[in-house]
Amino acid sequence: MKSMMKRLLLLLCMLWAPAGLAAGGGNEHLDSAYIDLADKGSLRRGAHTFVNYCLSCHEASFMRYERMARDLEIDSNTLKQSMMFAADKPGELMTVNMSDQDAKPWFGVVPPDLSLTARSRGPDWIYTYLRGFYRDGSTPTGWNNTLYPNVAMPHVLYEWQGMRKASYETSADGAKVLAGFEQLRPGTMNAQEYDSAIRNLTNFMVYLAEPAKLVRYRIGFWVMVFMLVFVGLSYLLKKEYWRDVH
Ligand code: HEC
Repeated sequence: MKSMMKRLLLLLCMLWAPAGLAAGGGNEHLDSAYIDLADKGSLRRGAHTFVNYCLSCHEASFMRYERMARDLEIDSNTLKQSMMFAADKPGELMTVNMSDQDAKPWFGVVPPDLSLTARSRGPDWIYTYLRGFYRDGSTPTGWNNTLYPNVAMPHVLYEWQGMRKASYETSADGAKVLAGFEQLRPGTMNAQEYDSAIRNLTNFMVYLAEPAKLVRYRIGFWVMVFMLVFVGLSYLLKKEYWRDVH
């Protein structure tokens, strides 16, 4: 009986362990991104930011321009004129021209492919990360990040957010905790506008990581329409049958 209990306990532990591990990985606070994949306008705005500010260093090598344009309802003129800086044909993959050999000495690391980052890190992580940059004279880029300390990426959207300084406090148990930010120089956007731009960008990166989700949304809609029509027809049929019975 005792060994049975032990086995049961062990089984429970095994079931719980992955959840614990997934929840772990640091005790940093993440802000909720509240993204909405059904909002095509938000996805399009995110896509614009992505191709203009991120694709110069990062690739999204699982995505083709034409697929993105089709899914997000971007017309071919807009695509060619304001979104395709690193490619000639819409059929090309969203890769960058910078070679890994160039990137390494510049940043110390190769900027990772962002195709699947929304799945590996999660939307809240990306949303918090892109809002967590601050000035730090001690790093090679002059920037640091509250979520990703000593990150090799500079704050590429600082014109929007402006320059901030982070102040840290030491808690009772000796840990460094973020106390707040001080705005050193304003950006072109206020805090709300910047959050909203980052929400759109995160939304786009979630789409990027699983484009089939949009197709599932579309199919889901027609399944609902079919069900409604089917229920209506069944009701009429039932009435028809019962007319003879009464
Ligand atoms: C100047 C080059 C450069 C640009 C432009 C750039 N990044 Fe980065 N990014 C990097 C580098 C380098 C890293 C690796 C940082 C490290 O490992 O310390 C990185 C890391 C990241 C990560 C973390 C990935 C992970 O899972 O660890 C994310 C997310 C990211 N970038 C998003 C973006 C987004 C979104 C944009 C556009 C707004 C962008 N980056 C623009 C250079 C760049």
